[in-house]
Amino acid sequence: MIKHETIEKNIGLMILLIIIVISGGGLAEIVPLFFSSSTTKPIEGLRTYTPLEFEGRDIYIREGCNTCHSQMIRPFRAETERYGHFSTANEHVYEYPFLWGSKRTGPDLARVGGRYSDDWHRAHLYNPRDVVPESKMPAYPWLFENKLSGKETAKKLTAQQTLGVPFTDETIAGAAEAVQGKYEIDALVAYLQALGKMHSQYNNKR
Ligand code: HEC
Repeated sequence: MIKHETIEKNIGLMILLIIIVISGGGLAEIVPLFFSSSTTKPIEGLRTYTPLEFEGRDIYIREGCNTCHSQMIRPFRAETERYGHFSTANEHVYEYPFLWGSKRTGPDLARVGGRYSDDWHRAHLYNPRDVVPESKMPAYPWLFENKLSGKETAKKLTAQQTLGVPFTDETIAGAAEAVQGKYEIDALVAYLQALGKMHSQYNNKR
């Protein structure tokens, strides 16, 4: 039996024991999530992004939208009344990387799809102050000038397919054509309108 005093006086042993205790707790919490069907199986009817929406998601990441906006509604009344049904893991099994976030300078966007018109989003992204005078959100005018070439789209979708996202070979074959010549703003708005609409549970009507 190791005496308490021995541990307290031996920093190396103390560090080792702390590591064992913390990893034990961590593993007990984390490991089951890799096997539980509620976190690994897609929610019923979950679809994959269209190539245009997928490019929009990449622009969202490139522009750092996720540094100000979370995509995870917590299970509290104040949240569900404002944003809709709380987020569940099985809605996000096709997300690589996931964009839940925890920093909210702006509102949560997990179910923003359908809340505004495409025109509202375009005006808002061109200059947020035009539609929300007190907004602190930056303007993104270049999205209206840059066009998508579609050169990388198929490769990106194939990479996602390797990770287990069920993009069909047909979607991948037509990916370049589906996005070519579209403006970045078209892709980003398509993505925003898909948020929360990837399945029809929780009254997320498509
Ligand atoms: C510096 C922080 C910041 C960044 C970066 C940012 N936003 Fe915002 N966003 C806000 C704030 C604050 C609001 C609330 C005021 C408003 O509506 O403009 C907002 C509001 C929104 C809304 C309206 C949400 C609602 O429910 O009313 C959308 C949609 C949105 N942002 C999308 C984006 C997108 C897309 C990007 C990246 C291109 C982005 N935001 C980048 C801060 C940010």
